[in-house]
Amino acid sequence: MTPVLLLVAALLVSAHAYGEREPSYNIRRVAPLTSAALATEVLPAAQFFVPLTEKVPRQTYKKKLLEALRTGLSTTAVLAGSANDNQYLTNVTVGGENFTVIVDTGSSDTWVAQKGFECFNLTSFPEKQSYCAFGSSGFDESKSKTFASYPDKNFNITYGDGEFLNGPVGFDTVIIGDMAVNKQEIGLVNKAAWNGDGINSGLLGLAYPELTSVYNGTDPDSDVSGESDTYNPLFFTALSERVVSNPYFSVALNRGSFKHQENSSYDTNLGYLAFGGIAPVNTTNISATIPVQGYTLKSGLSNQYLFYTVEIDSYIFNGSAAPTGSGKQAILDTGTTLNYLPNALAKAYNSKFVPPATYVADQDTYFVDCNATVPAFSVNIGGTKFTIDAADNILPAGTDSNGNELCVSGTQNGGDPSDTDLFILGDVFLHNVVVTFNVQSNKITITQRTAY
Ligand SMILES: *[C@@H]1O[C@H](CO)[C@@H](O)[C@H](O)[C@H]1NC(C)=O
Ligand SMILES: *[C@@H]1O[C@H](CO)[C@@H](O)[C@H](O)[C@H]1NC(C)=O
Ligand SMILES: *[C@@H]1O[C@H](CO)[C@@H](O)[C@H](O)[C@H]1NC(C)=O
Ligand SMILES: *[C@@H]1O[C@H](CO)[C@@H](O)[C@H](O)[C@H]1NC(C)=O
Ligand SMILES: *[C@@H]1O[C@H](CO)[C@@H](O)[C@H](O)[C@H]1NC(C)=O
Ligand SMILES: *[C@@H]1O[C@H](CO)[C@@H](O)[C@H](O)[C@H]1NC(C)=O
Ligand SMILES: *[C@@H]1O[C@H](CO)[C@@H](O)[C@H](O)[C@H]1NC(C)=O
Ligand SMILES: *[C@@H]1O[C@H](CO)[C@@H](O)[C@H](O)[C@H]1NC(C)=O
Ligand SMILES: *[C@@H]1O[C@H](CO)[C@@H](O)[C@H](O)[C@H]1NC(C)=O
Ligand SMILES: *[C@@H]1O[C@H](CO)[C@@H](O)[C@H](O)[C@H]1NC(C)=O
Repeated sequence: MTPVLLLVAALLVSAHAYGEREPSYNIRRVAPLTSAALATEVLPAAQFFVPLTEKVPRQTYKKKLLEALRTGLSTTAVLAGSANDNQYLTNVTVGGENFTVIVDTGSSDTWVAQKGFECFNLTSFPEKQSYCAFGSSGFDESKSKTFASYPDKNFNITYGDGEFLNGPVGFDTVIIGDMAVNKQEIGLVNKAAWNGDGINSGLLGLAYPELTSVYNGTDPDSDVSGESDTYNPLFFTALSERVVSNPYFSVALNRGSFKHQENSSYDTNLGYLAFGGIAPVNTTNISATIPVQGYTLKSGLSNQYLFYTVEIDSYIFNGSAAPTGSGKQAILDTGTTLNYLPNALAKAYNSKFVPPATYVADQDTYFVDCNATVPAFSVNIGGTKFTIDAADNILPAGTDSNGNELCVSGTQNGGDPSDTDLFILGDVFLHNVVVTFNVQSNKITITQRTAY
């Protein structure tokens, strides 16, 4: 059985950080800063890096919610995805205590469960702590020599299906790899409705300050979506404290073995999260630097940075057509496994598998024969062609009730382009490149990796 319900919460963080703001932010697409590629940045080697070693299965909820929210259909049902979606995890130290956390370029807060946290079910009935399935008993600030509380603030993310994380806010030293960031603002979760995985105890958010979820006051019920007291996420603090010299962080996500994907629990070689430069993997000379695309908020503020959104020139496959409207943009999201393209493009691509992939409407998913021939697929960004390995476009999805192996296509329906739509290049794309984010000049450099 796919542990569908057990894993819901872990999937939702970005979508919720985004979703909670949706009513008041009303994000609209804005014209690109420039559609032309920028001069390719010459990237220094990273100063600090940590291996990504574990991943845990997650479903397509996040994508579903993102999709629902961006199209304004908050009533869209959350569908149970297959167990083919994964979170990349890494270890961090907070105030001297060790935790494994989800690495997410699609959200901004760093938070950990707090020792003694109260656990609830989705309808706010108290449950035993084990029900929340965090990977530890939680952060104990009394054991930290460096912790400082931040009075009169609260951390609050609520999930569309009723899951929530609330708690106080503080500052502490967060160490990741050899990078020690002092006085990082963090959320301590003392109330959680969280369907965890038994491994992670929190999350490391790498997106922009505008997506953070700390509010003034101590009463979460008084928090107003879109009126958060924004603060510097971890990497932004690292820069302001001059712990890193260069404004880059970089991710290289390894695809892992098919077998590991199948069981999705532990893999020893899943790539790197790096700070201060490009992650230490072998690359080709194929590279492009492009601007991050900003958003106009309902408040009228324009060109606000939230996600790592980039302009797509084209998706290249036999029978592809030029993307139109919002189909010309996509979010680079380590927290999403599959690629979500405009419907027509996903359909055209999936028809080219031999045998063709089949669309199963009630799961909104293209399934494909695990032995199918994969059609070639590249993405043109910044005038540069980035090739996706065939291995990334078929993913194991467990077995059906007769024990037959099931696989899904790496390229799925992300909806129809409209003014508010966002599409996603997830791990299927990211396995093939190193992405280096310059959070000061708001530029992203994508570099094709050597085949592995
Ligand atoms: C991360 O922490 C877990 C639990 O302590 C440990 O088993 C694992 O080896 C650590 N991974 C790395 C890369 O240090
Ligand atoms: C935390 O992790 C480090 C590195 O893996 C290890 O040396 C240390 O003993 C761990 N501390 C605790 C309290 O488990
Ligand atoms: C939460 O627990 C209460 C009391 O046991 C139960 O009535 C309710 O259905 C539970 N909610 C969920 C979503 O499981
Ligand atoms: C804050 O938390 C409360 C209690 O969990 C929840 O009802 C509310 O929707 C949350 N507000 C925001 C803005 O996240
Ligand atoms: C939160 O409170 C601080 C200090 O009183 C104030 O400067 C800030 O504007 C408030 N933020 C919001 C979003 O209301
Ligand atoms: C995956 O896990 C199942 C159940 O634990 C086990 O039977 C199977 O052999 C595992 N598959 C691989 C490829 O490790
Ligand atoms: C990177 O390239 C070097 C030189 O070609 C090679 O020795 C090394 O094994 C490669 N590393 C990986 C991880 O492929
Ligand atoms: C990139 O490398 C290839 C060979 O690996 C070479 O043919 C090509 O000229 C190089 N391109 C640039 C821009 O250096
Ligand atoms: C492109 O697709 C068409 C129709 O599906 C097929 O007949 C043709 O062989 C494909 N071309 C290539 C180069 O794969
Ligand atoms: C794929 O091929 C292998 C052998 O090459 C076979 O054992 C397996 O049953 C095939 N799977 C499907 C879904 O056809």
